[in-house]
Amino acid sequence: MEKVAKRPLEPRAQAVVDRLHSASKQQLLKSVPGMVGSMVRSRVKDGTWDSTFTPDGKKFLSDKMVALAPAKAALAYQLCRASGARRIVEAGTSFGVSTIYLASAVAENVDGAEGEGVVIGTEHEPSKVEIARRHLDEAGVGAFADVREGDLRQTLLDVEGPIDFMLVDIWIPMALPALEIIAPKLRPGALVFCDNVVGAHAQYRDYLEYVRDPGGDFASVTIPGTGGLEVSRKR
Ligand SMILES: C[S@@+](CC[C@H](N)C(=O)[O-])C[C@H]1O[C@@H](n2cnc3c(N)ncnc32)[C@H](O)[C@@H]1O
Repeated sequence: MEKVAKRPLEPRAQAVVDRLHSASKQQLLKSVPGMVGSMVRSRVKDGTWDSTFTPDGKKFLSDKMVALAPAKAALAYQLCRASGARRIVEAGTSFGVSTIYLASAVAENVDGAEGEGVVIGTEHEPSKVEIARRHLDEAGVGAFADVREGDLRQTLLDVEGPIDFMLVDIWIPMALPALEIIAPKLRPGALVFCDNVVGAHAQYRDYLEYVRDPGGDFASVTIPGTGGLEVSRKR
């Protein structure tokens, strides 16, 4: 018996994400020296330790999976199942790991009826888009995902509401622009997850000010642990 339950998906999809989480972890471990080098170069050239803000850092990360932690992805799946989410937006698809969780929730919520629900993902690295689509098909949920290739500031503009759930798992400078595009299309009660807001608290300042504004559109809580997770509810 595992200490932590984190395998909520149907066996076919679960097998794919288990393999991908493991590959993402291995890639992260192998990338540590390169990552440190990239952080130092980012600091020297651009004055920030955060690689997701700099050209050098973004180049280094362009082939990295950086998948959402299994427990966070499983929680997103559970909440999407519990709320019956049919229309989901994901800012930051990468190799499609979190997308498989979200597309699984949609597929089950619509009882496998294609065209009745979708996860709109977005990814600007063409090679990652191709890989993500392959993984979604392998998991059996490709028909419930629309992975849009390109910069989210373009690809998300024509998303139609109402949106039931949004995952913000993107390079940090893009977190607020992504939410600002989708916020008017979120239905009241829709949840928005944003990853790593405790680990990179200072860098997420603009995003956190937006979702925590007492007079704003969201009521927000922070789940600490594994970098932290901001869970914001549309009022
Ligand atoms: C943290 S990863 C996403 C991981 C993914 N959610 C998962 O769990 O597998 C963030 C991704 O956002 C992509 N990205 C960054 N800026 C972007 C932008 N402006 N438009 C679209 N995609 C972007 C990166 O290429 C990267 O693959």
